[in-house]
Amino acid sequence: MGHGLLNGKNGIIFGALDNKSIAWKVAERCVEEGANIVLTNAPVAMRLGEINELAAKLNCDIIPADATSIEDLENLILGSMEKFGGKIDFILHSIGMSVNVRKKKDYTDLNYEWMKTTFDVSAISFHKVMQTAMKHDAMKEWGSILALTYIAAQRTFPDYSEMAESKALLESFARSFGYHWAKKSKVRVNTISQSPTVTTAGSGVKGFSDFFGYADKMSPLGNAGADACADYCVTMFSDLTRMVTMQNLFHDGGFSSMGMAPELLEE
Ligand SMILES: NC(=O)c1ccc[n+]([C@@H]2O[C@H](COP(=O)([O-])OP(=O)(O)OC[C@H]3O[C@@H](n4cnc5c(N)ncnc54)[C@H](O)[C@@H]3O)[C@@H](O)[C@H]2O)c1
Repeated sequence: MGHGLLNGKNGIIFGALDNKSIAWKVAERCVEEGANIVLTNAPVAMRLGEINELAAKLNCDIIPADATSIEDLENLILGSMEKFGGKIDFILHSIGMSVNVRKKKDYTDLNYEWMKTTFDVSAISFHKVMQTAMKHDAMKEWGSILALTYIAAQRTFPDYSEMAESKALLESFARSFGYHWAKKSKVRVNTISQSPTVTTAGSGVKGFSDFFGYADKMSPLGNAGADACADYCVTMFSDLTRMVTMQNLFHDGGFSSMGMAPELLEE
C-alpha cells in the first residue's frame, strides 16, 4: 500500500525488461506512491521483453529510446514533457550491458571496440540523458536523478570485468553532473549501489549464483532484493531526501562495510 510519497510527480524509468528487472519493481512502486511515469527501453528490448505488459498494468505510456542515441533521448524527453503537460521530477537510469562479458572475452584479452560500446551503453548514456534533459530545461526544481551501480566500481570482483570501469565512470558522472544540476535547478543526482540481484543483466556475470550466495552470507542483513531497492529509489525520488546529492549510496545489507564474516569462515 502506498503512502502518497510521489503524489503529483512525473518520472521517466529506463530499463524495465521483464518482471525480474529492478526498474520493473521501481516502476510499480512509483505508481503505487502516486507518480505518473513514462517507461522507456531500447527498441530491441520492446521485442524481447515484456514492457508492454507492465505499461498496460500501470496504465502508462512507453517511449522507446536507445539510451546511446541523442536523437532518441530528445524524442523521449520532449515526448514525456508533452505527455505530463509539464517538467519531469525524477529519472531512473537502470541500464547495463557488457559486450565483452556477453561474448565471454577474458578481462586480460578485451576487445576495445566492444569496450567502447559497453561504456557508451552502461555509463556515457547517463551523461547523455542528463545533458539532453538540461538542454531542454526539462527537470523541475528539487527533482531527483538516479542511476544503479555496483560495488565493483570500488573493489575488485574479477568476473565483473569491464563493467567495473563502466560503473566507476557512471558514479563519477553522478558527482560531476550533480554539481551542475544543483546549481541550475536544485536537482539532485545520486547512484544506488545495489546487492547482487537475480535479473537478466545480473545473471549474465560468470559464477553469479555462487557469488549471490557468498554476498548474501557476507551481508549481515543478507542481500538487498529488487523490491527493497525499489523502496529505496522511491525515497530518493520523494521530497524526504532533498539535500542528498552527488553520493554513491550503498544498498547492500551491510556488505560494503564488512571485512570478515565468521559465517563464511565456518564453511
Ligand atoms: N542485477 C544485479 O545484480 C545488479 C547489481 C547492482 C547493479 N545493477 C544494475 O542495475 C541496473 C539494471 O539491471 P537489472 O539487473 O535490472 O537487469 P536488466 O537486464 O533487467 O536491465 C538492464 C536493462 O538495460 C537495458 N538496456 C540495454 N542496452 C540499452 C540501451 N542501449 N538503451 C536503453 N536501455 C538499454 C535493457 O534492455 C534492460 O532493460 C543496471 O545498471 C545494472 O548494472 C544490477
